Amino acid sequence: MTRYAEVYKSWQDDPESFWMKQAEAIDWIKPPSKALDDSNPPFYRWFPDAECNTCWNAVDRHVEGGRGDQTAIIYDSPVTNTKRSISYRELKELTAKLAGALKARGINKGDRVIIYMPMIPETVVAMLACARIGAIHSVVFGGFAANELAVRIDDAKPKTLIAASCGIEPGRVVAYKPMLDGAIDLAEHKPDFTIMFQRDQAPADLVEGRDIEWHEAQHDVQPADCVAVGGADPLYILYTSGTTGQPKGVVRPNAGHMVALHWTMENIYDVEPGDVYWAASDVGWVVGHSYIVYAPLLYGCTTVVFEGKPVGTPDAGTFWRVISEHNVKVLFTAPTAFRAIKREDSSGEFVKKYDLRHFKTLFLAGERADPDTIEWAQAQLGVPVIDHWWQTETGYSIAANPVGIELLPVKLGSPTVAMPGYDVQILDESGHEVAAGELGAIAIKLPLPPGTLPTLWGADERFVRSYLATFPGYYETGDAGIKDQDGYISIMARTDDVINVAGHRLSTGGMEEVLAGHPDVAECAVIGVTDQLKGQLPVGFVCLNTGCDRDQGDIRSELVQRVRDQIGPVAAFKQVAVVDRLPKTRSGKILRGVMVKIADGEAFKVPATIDDPAILDEIKDGLQSLGYAQN
Ligand code: COA
Ligand code: AMP
Repeated sequence: MTRYAEVYKSWQDDPESFWMKQAEAIDWIKPPSKALDDSNPPFYRWFPDAECNTCWNAVDRHVEGGRGDQTAIIYDSPVTNTKRSISYRELKELTAKLAGALKARGINKGDRVIIYMPMIPETVVAMLACARIGAIHSVVFGGFAANELAVRIDDAKPKTLIAASCGIEPGRVVAYKPMLDGAIDLAEHKPDFTIMFQRDQAPADLVEGRDIEWHEAQHDVQPADCVAVGGADPLYILYTSGTTGQPKGVVRPNAGHMVALHWTMENIYDVEPGDVYWAASDVGWVVGHSYIVYAPLLYGCTTVVFEGKPVGTPDAGTFWRVISEHNVKVLFTAPTAFRAIKREDSSGEFVKKYDLRHFKTLFLAGERADPDTIEWAQAQLGVPVIDHWWQTETGYSIAANPVGIELLPVKLGSPTVAMPGYDVQILDESGHEVAAGELGAIAIKLPLPPGTLPTLWGADERFVRSYLATFPGYYETGDAGIKDQDGYISIMARTDDVINVAGHRLSTGGMEEVLAGHPDVAECAVIGVTDQLKGQLPVGFVCLNTGCDRDQGDIRSELVQRVRDQIGPVAAFKQVAVVDRLPKTRSGKILRGVMVKIADGEAFKVPATIDDPAILDEIKDGLQSLGYAQN
């Protein structure tokens, strides 16, 4: 039996003892008397009778334990030419001060705080300050527009918003304040006040009586101590795309999250306290929450907050510079970042310029890691390249190669095997397990392990409907895939309308809602088409209202702008074709799957249920006009 198999079996044999043992790594105010509360299925709670504080475990305890002078955060920002190190001691002071400012203005345990900030250390401070006083943060990615922010304000009902005045994209400064103001105007719920971190690149005008400048807010306040929260109390809400424009508020509980993330640092990522760990993602995504902020800090590592892109800031060698300059041991990023680097530096000239001696392992997640990219990375870097699979909902990997336990043989195209806590099964439509090597829906037997979502914010019924209804007793991942005879899992596609653009999870349904809102659009469909760089790109099809004789080019530009304004630039929605009709089944269901196959140049069968096969030619023409569809 492999070492991994032994560990997995030890969890399978006795999950309760397995997780209670991992819980010993955490400082508890009141230790848990048991791990799982399964008294109210399908709602499971981990460590509910414990009392704890995540900020204490991520910051204060390291100061108490002698790591006060160790660097907690390295901020490296090629877009502003700034580098800065923050020690654990400083991080504690900064966090306690901001927490004090929040407390002084009435933010308490259980209150929500929305954070709309870019990749700067103050964002981490804001998250930890909330955790410190038991407030529930919800970070919104800077690439989302005012409307998306407003939807989240109305759902989370925050007492306050903490924002920075701008983010910086290569070649442009993105002013956040107009989006913040726009969102507050649009939202029905109004926050009591906002805290604004002013950046020199675009200082914001403050609204008298509502907006308080970051330092001003902290003037003369008492630093706040860590408060005790219940183990199952939410640490944060993170909104993620579902099948509609209404995002899902994934709830993350405090205790299970700490226990699970701590376990992953040793067993999956193979790091030690004091090591430098870098997740080149964004705090607005789950990877950022778990592996820029919480896991490295809970484990006493140094984390890198990188404000830049893999290419163009200033060149395709920036990742290697950061690794060599800061002695990074582990890098975690999305495959798309490597595809971007490979496209600009296929022979790896930049890699050769840097001393990468301290670099041990590359981890990839967020989208399918294509074998070409993995092989290129292996050849350039000479370290193991580990694909691992997870979701916002789980907060850490469902399947991985547990390097800290043992490096299992890599099978290209597979994120390896299920991690302890996850009983992953491939099911057919009637919920039966399929044979090894056969494609099916990927489901996880309940209960999900500690740290995964217990529900959606304020939406228990939607939680059950979205994840638990299709296969009773299982969590439906929304991914389809296969498991081979060695237990290796491969993720093949989503089973819903979610697409993955440059590692960013987006809803085609959400984009359709925006297109459908255009006055000239009668009906529409958005599909995810394969893209060499970003994995997938959204492509829209619209049918115009009868009698509409406006210039189609104008309408198409308006539609692109509309998605940019209402969802945000991150949607990368740039292509839309005008067609007379959409292909549908006789019962009226749009055949998006067939459209995707046409766009990707894949063979497809004309479905027997199609209303009018001739429409497919029209779709081909539309795709050809956008540069797709070879077959
Ligand atoms: N604030 C405002 N705008 C943002 C933004 C932010 N935080 N992040 C992205 N955008 C904008 C970009 O400027 C771009 O706008 P444009 O249409 O005006 O060019 C648009 O959103 C799309 O951004 P992106 O998908 O990042 O594309 P890109 O062409 O700028 O860069 C990559 C391509 C591959 C380099 C980039 O996507 C990348 O680094 N991906 C890594 C993904 C990642 O870390 N994912 C996290 C999950 S692990
Ligand atoms: P997110 O919630 O944004 O992390 O997106 C989760 C989705 O991204 C998953 O459901 C998968 O569809 C996809 N995904 C994440 N990691 C991988 C991976 N390693 N391989 C294939 N798909 C992945």
